[in-house]
Amino acid sequence: MSESLIKRAEELRRQLEHHEYLYYVLDQPEISDAAFDALMRELRELEEAHPELRTPDSPTQRVGGQPREGFLKVPHSSPMLSLDNALNEEELRDFDARVRGLLKSEEYQYIAELKLDGLSMAAYYNAGRLQQALTRGDGRVGEDVTENSRTIRSLPLRLRQSPESGGFEVRGEVVMQRRSFERLNEERANAGLSRFANPRNAAAGALRALDPTITAARQLDYFAYFLLKDGRPLLESHWDSLEALVEAGFKVNPHRRRCANLDELLEFIREWEPKRDDLPYEIDGVVAKIDSIAQQEALGWTAKAPRWAIAFKYPARQATTVLESIEVQVGRTGTLTPVAHLKAVTLSGVTVSRATLHNEDEIARLGVEIGDTVLVERSGDVIPKIVRVVEQGLHRRPFRIPRACPVCGGHIVREEGEAASRCVNTNCPARLRESLLHFASRGVMDIDGMGEALVDQLLNRGLVRNIADLYSLTADHLTALDRMGAKSASKVIHNIDASRAQPLWRVLNGLGIPFVGERTAQLLANHFGELDAIAAASNESLQEVNEVGPKVAQSINQFFAEQRNRELLERLREAGLRFAAPKQKPTRGPLSGLTFVITGTLPRLTREQAKEKIEAAGGKVSGSVSAKTSYLLAGDEAGSKLDKARVLNVPVLNEEGLIAMLGSQDEIGRQRSSS
Ligand code: IVH
Repeated sequence: MSESLIKRAEELRRQLEHHEYLYYVLDQPEISDAAFDALMRELRELEEAHPELRTPDSPTQRVGGQPREGFLKVPHSSPMLSLDNALNEEELRDFDARVRGLLKSEEYQYIAELKLDGLSMAAYYNAGRLQQALTRGDGRVGEDVTENSRTIRSLPLRLRQSPESGGFEVRGEVVMQRRSFERLNEERANAGLSRFANPRNAAAGALRALDPTITAARQLDYFAYFLLKDGRPLLESHWDSLEALVEAGFKVNPHRRRCANLDELLEFIREWEPKRDDLPYEIDGVVAKIDSIAQQEALGWTAKAPRWAIAFKYPARQATTVLESIEVQVGRTGTLTPVAHLKAVTLSGVTVSRATLHNEDEIARLGVEIGDTVLVERSGDVIPKIVRVVEQGLHRRPFRIPRACPVCGGHIVREEGEAASRCVNTNCPARLRESLLHFASRGVMDIDGMGEALVDQLLNRGLVRNIADLYSLTADHLTALDRMGAKSASKVIHNIDASRAQPLWRVLNGLGIPFVGERTAQLLANHFGELDAIAAASNESLQEVNEVGPKVAQSINQFFAEQRNRELLERLREAGLRFAAPKQKPTRGPLSGLTFVITGTLPRLTREQAKEKIEAAGGKVSGSVSAKTSYLLAGDEAGSKLDKARVLNVPVLNEEGLIAMLGSQDEIGRQRSSS
């Protein structure tokens, strides 16, 4: 074994760990997925050619284990208790009064953290490496889920910095992010499987799956909140523990606060109640812990829970109301979705009058009929859902999926093994409408102004019959429409125009191929690099792409086999859309490690061109000035960003300065030291 191969393998492991950390822990990736995959591929190939190079904690080994028969039971170092709840302010005041009484007149502080709605897991480390992971189990004895835990990318296999030379334990929460949850449920529905009721159930199922590849596919996340040694806190303050966990490379929830008293704690609680919907994962309350470990020990435990911590639970966002009718909507792939129309009811400040019912099976599972009184719930999702029937209506009547499409009268079919019924008419106006809205939406081609009102008019007047027609629209077409002035018309046309520059994966997502959403589109674009290559790919070669199985591959093949779709693609190509992914940007260059913000009008380059130049040289471009900004590139009429850069002492550069930096490494050195 040559010395250089050993070195290269270690270097790759370090780089991959670093990028996993940036991506999964800090949520601030610095390289593209494709660049990451390339590093991973190189390491994998190296380890395959020389198996002796493989280490158990190599990033290639996250999904290594074989399916098991069951889990080993292992006792915890100290009980994993649960928390007492406070359901309102008064109960929280009672708790605080008890603490004050027990601590006599000592001063104390609370640490407020979000109460993540997941399941707790303990992870043991030794010599800086993950050794074992246990579920909570009954609190005294947990289940050994080490193999599954290794697939959680935010759980480090090797630490950046060990808080302790010997062994130690971390406790925290396993959660599933909403996006992963929604994707999982969508996939399950497509596969004719039942949906998970909430991300926590899905996470629990994933963590206890017998096959680690299932855990890996569910994309779990881990937030650490305790640092223990032999079952006791390692450091003297809880806050310091959280900081030490951050240093070690764990993901620690950033939304935490030291609170000097109950009022500050209440402020934190009030602040997060409305903001909880904006988080990418679900929380069900706030946990408050006494900061000082000496005080925690003085307060002690009951049999069930510590006396030094409390969980404030946000009120459930549920209410009862009447299901008045069920409407059937037709989606862009022709899927019929029953939507419940409810008697309006207020749920934690939001008026709710509609809820999703997903499909016929869901309606049957709930046993719900029109006229029933139902319990509705708003969990993280935008659309509320019906939880169960509370009382059957006196004149209730069952709902049936119509036999003909409610929009075009076309045939409705429900394929064997599928939960959804579909309208088979590919020209169904409802499908076209939804396809256009999807194509123009922010996460896809991002055509601002192309909303429901405009799309409906374009369809009604026959101006648009497919997505390619959007690119033949002119401002004159638009000004002839209702409520469309010359100014808005030219804005929309400009936005359509600008969308031609959207990357390949967005175009691919915009085509509306069944089962090809944002993530699959990105993976496909990265793998093949060109739309033509995807269109020509065989079933087998499509399945070489991560996460693409036989069903998705078949759907892609079917799409490109259809003559009508091929014609559409040719028109999109003529319209100048991107059919190739940009060449991989070098991650190393004269500007590596530097972050730029661009503002104002530059004399020669457009901002887009400046951005491309910076990125091509390995630099990053960000939207806002912070202490981390290396340079502000400012042109004429630079505004608030320039002010902010001055306040933060961020060096300011003009276009000439940038060109000079791009020219030679020396130039950078000089500018940096003179700033
Ligand atoms: S501390 C002694 N902190 O809530 C147990 N728990 O009802 C102390 N949870 O079982 C737990 N977020 O699964 C703690 N920031 C947080 C939490 C948290 C969620 C869960 C955990 C625990 C349950 C307690």
